[in-house]
Amino acid sequence: MPPRSILAGIGAYLPQRIVSNDELARTVDTTDAWIRERTGIQQRHFAAPHETAVFMATESARAALADAGAQASDVDGIIVATSTPDQAFPATAVRVQAALGATKGFGFDLAAACAGFVYGLSVADCMIKCGQAKGVLVIGSEVYSRILNWADRGTCVLFGDGAGAVFLRAGEGAGSDRGILSTHLHAQGTLGDILYVDGAVGQPDKPGHLVMHGKEVFRHAVTRLAEAVQEALAANHLTAADIDWLVPHQANRRIIDAMGRKLGLPIDRVVITVDRHANTSAASVPLALHDAWKDGRIKRGDLVLLEALGGGLVWGSALVRM
Ligand code: ACO
Repeated sequence: MPPRSILAGIGAYLPQRIVSNDELARTVDTTDAWIRERTGIQQRHFAAPHETAVFMATESARAALADAGAQASDVDGIIVATSTPDQAFPATAVRVQAALGATKGFGFDLAAACAGFVYGLSVADCMIKCGQAKGVLVIGSEVYSRILNWADRGTCVLFGDGAGAVFLRAGEGAGSDRGILSTHLHAQGTLGDILYVDGAVGQPDKPGHLVMHGKEVFRHAVTRLAEAVQEALAANHLTAADIDWLVPHQANRRIIDAMGRKLGLPIDRVVITVDRHANTSAASVPLALHDAWKDGRIKRGDLVLLEALGGGLVWGSALVRM
């Protein structure tokens, strides 16, 4: 029996600077009421110049290792999900490796927008199951404040910065019911133009800003995420009643509520941080997971379903026994 990937530790980092909707409304043509009503967002964290993707990923990784009682020497793989790396290369992951003082194994970045952390969990789980690694850090770290178009009030009010990390440890095989039980990943490239960044280092004179057709993304998000959740439940012969906690991607409170309703899940079993963090893309799921882990809502033994969707479109789920 292949080993299970146990979530041994969870960590997070949020930039010091908190920006309320009212503060944003001083420079953007918007109001606190519009943002709250349409999205549930009340505030977000914005990174200072030194709070880069590498810096925040490293801080969240340190916290995850400490939570697991693990050392840098226990790490033999690092995957960082990010759309906002400090550099095209080397990868954020190898900068984190150096900063932690880890010396073994692999390190690479993964580009799957807001679904990046769930994608990363799936890849790390496969590597642990096939015996390629025993201790893997999976990190989501994003500084979306650097790619927002401040002239587009339809997108710039929606995002925030931050990082979250888990340390996965190969656990026992037969006899253990803890760890990642399943992951399911999907992509539909034909929808690449409803949510994208319009440039990158490979395109001269185009640093790149986020562009989103919000209504279309909203429509696909509700449908695809509900399908992904049903897929995870069916694959594990479970119903929504078996799930202790849903940890959804934190894009919009209305999407989260719609998901909860479709599943018949009471809202007090759904972890919500979008009000305080806004959408932190690949960092949103691990930040939400950390929030409920740290304050004791999510406990060892709980069955937790993670799901996310992002630009691509890409989406997926991970079912975890904590
Ligand atoms: N403040 C005030 N008014 C605004 C703002 C703002 N910040 N933004 C837009 N408006 C106005 C528009 O101009 C429009 O005015 P009009 O009717 O006079 O033309 C009106 O509000 C309605 O705008 P819509 O864009 O139609 O608003 P909608 O109800 O669709 O809400 C939102 C927009 C919140 C973006 C929603 O579509 C949404 O949440 N979409 C999904 C986002 C998402 O899930 N992203 C996930 C992945 S993110 C990733 O992967 C990077």
